[in-house]
Formats: sequence, C-alpha cells, structure tokens
Amino acid sequence: TRLVQMNKMTGLSVLARSFSVSNQSNYKVSVLGASGGIGQPMSLLLKQTPGVKHLALYDIAHTPGVAADLSHIDTAAKVTGHTGPDEIGECLTGCDVVVIPAGVPRKPGMTRDDLFTTNASIVAELSKACAKYCPKAFICIISNPVNSTVPICCEMFKKAGVNDLGKVFGVSTLDIVRSNAFVAEAKGLDVSSVNVPVIGGHAGITIIPVISQCQPSVTFDQAALEAITTRIQDAGTEVVKAKAGAGSATLSMAYAGARFAASALDALSGKEGVVECAFVPSDRSDTKYFSTQLVLGPNGIESNLGTGKLSAYEESLVAACIPELQASIKKGEEFAKNYN
Ligand code: NAD
Ligand code: LMR
Repeated sequence: TRLVQMNKMTGLSVLARSFSVSNQSNYKVSVLGASGGIGQPMSLLLKQTPGVKHLALYDIAHTPGVAADLSHIDTAAKVTGHTGPDEIGECLTGCDVVVIPAGVPRKPGMTRDDLFTTNASIVAELSKACAKYCPKAFICIISNPVNSTVPICCEMFKKAGVNDLGKVFGVSTLDIVRSNAFVAEAKGLDVSSVNVPVIGGHAGITIIPVISQCQPSVTFDQAALEAITTRIQDAGTEVVKAKAGAGSATLSMAYAGARFAASALDALSGKEGVVECAFVPSDRSDTKYFSTQLVLGPNGIESNLGTGKLSAYEESLVAACIPELQASIKKGEEFAKNYN
C-alpha cells in the first residue's frame, strides 16, 4: 500500500505494524488542538493514514499554517483548517472520528490532576461542540487528566441528550506502546510482536500493565516486575523531567493517538477483531470508568473483554488505584454538572 511505501521511504516502517491498512479513503477525521505539540505530528501521521478522506484541523491559533503545510503532502486526505469557536461547527460536521489533544501539558513537579483547572473547561467546551455537531463520531480524548476529562465529556454528552457513550474513549494507547517497548527491551524480544494490555486509568498508580497477559508470555522476578511496572507508571513523568519545562510527551503520543484513530477507522470499516485498551464507562471494576481491552466495531465498543485473569500482584495494583480513580471521576462529573 501507499502507507507501506511511504513508511519505507521515510524509515517509519514501524508504522506499518498496526496502523490501518484499509485502502478506502472514506472518513472525516478531526483533530481538536491541532497546532500543539501532539496535534501537529499526529495530524502529519493522520494525513498519511489510508481511510482518511478529510482531515479537519481545529485550534484556537495557528491552524491555517498547519493546514496549508500539511495540504501540500501528496496523500489522498483533503486538509482544512478551522480557528476559534465560530469555525468549530464546520470542522466537526460530518466527522467520523475526533481526536482531542487540546489543553496544557505538565511541567516538572506537576501531577496530571494539576492540569484540571485549565483543561476541564477546554474539554467541556469541545465536548459540547462534539455532542452538537457529530454526536455519533468516535471521540478520542488525549487531554489530561484523562481520568477526569473522559467523565467530563460523557456528562456533557448526557446534558446534550446524547446517551450513547459507546464511542467516547480516553486514549491510553501510549501506556501500551511504552509497556511493549520496555518489555521488549528488557527481554530482547522483537518489539513488533509484543503486546501488553494496560488496564485502570491514565495517571501514576492507576496505570496497570498486565504483564502476566503479555503476548508472547514473559516472566520477571518480583523485584524486576515491580521495577518495570513503576517505570511504565512513571513514564510520562520521565519525559516531563527530560523535557525540563518544555512540555510532556508529544511525539510518542502523536504515534499512539494516530494508532488509536486508525483502529477506530478499521472498526468503522467493519474490520473484525479490532481490540484496543481505552478508558471508558465500564462495569468491570469498582469505578464508573475503567480501561480494559475492548472489541471495537462500527458502533464503538462491541464488547468489553474485562480485566481477564490477573496475578495476585496485579489484583493488588487494581485495589490500590480504586480510591484515586473514583475521586478523579467524581471531580470530572461534578465539574461537568456545574458547567454551563
Ligand atoms: P500543547 O500546549 O503543545 O498543545 C495544546 C494545543 O491545544 C495548543 O495548540 C493550544 O492552542 C490548543 N488549545 C488550547 N485550548 C484550546 C481550545 N479551547 N480549543 C482547541 N485547542 C485548544 O500541549 P501538548 O503537548 O500537545 O499536550 C496536549 C494535552 O495532551 C495535554 O493536556 C497533555 O497533558 C495531554 N497528553 C496526554 C497524553 C495521554 O497519554 N493521554 C500523552 C501526552 C500528553
Ligand atoms: C503521558 O503519559 O506522557 C501524558 O499523560 C503526559 C504527562 O503529563 O505525563
């Protein structure tokens, strides 16, 4: 396919691993926050993702330049730029998949929850617009704190009378990508064959890699298992520290976000067996939202595969994260209930 050819040309052959290979360019995909550190490289990847007929870029600034730049790439997707609330309707109308990386990133010393004050209202406003203009689209939320922004989006949808929440996802794909990379590195495996499910949420101890279910099967002694689990949980902070004030993960997140969007397109096109972990409304734990492996189809979540069989250590990690997860969910729900 063209994607494979381009990946060979650019040396990005790894992308061929799991990005959509559907040949039909049928779908409108929108990126909200398209001018940012994640938004720009993710839009670049989406511009070369088969299946994308129209890439609609929205931000409060710099969108015309990003759109003009990307529109010169010789791939099928038409690119349009939309700036500010007056233009969001045009951006979202007819959208099949919306990816949302709008909002501020962490600086060293901050938790993801410290971003709530700024990002909660950004996500509430954008969710309101999605509920109005594209209530049936896959909504893929990257903006932190994901453990609160997903409940905010769902509450805003319900307020707007949209009660089907089977297509609202908190994107935790970066946790899976990191787990795959770290486990493959530790075990000397071909990373393209490694798959580690990650359950729970997307912040610190709520990130729970299920290494006992890794494909292929791997074993670590308890000390090594705890060390790699902690590294996965703190990987975002590792990048925040390394960037030293210049933001958080952008390039790996762009990769992860484009990969999740490609799975959404595969699901929409009727491909069988599309499985992704994501943070969604769920009855699979003692919290209202929880990330587990999901089978995706044209209507969103087709089935929730749940946590599967966990080791005693993983069970203890789930138990430990529940209070934090419940508090973050409640904070998001209450914010949305009071938001006009
Ligand atoms: P950034 O500051 O580089 O970019 C954010 C963009 O959002 C900017 O272009 C800004 O203009 C735009 N924006 C702000 N308010 C907006 C609004 N109301 N409507 C539309 N656009 C708006 O930040 P970044 O590094 O791209 O990170 C974005 C978010 O993603 C942060 O909240 C960060 O914490 C989060 N993040 C999540 C994950 C994850 O795994 N889910 C990974 C990395 C980063
Ligand atoms: C990540 O995991 O990299 C993101 O959630 C950004 C952050 O603040 O760590």
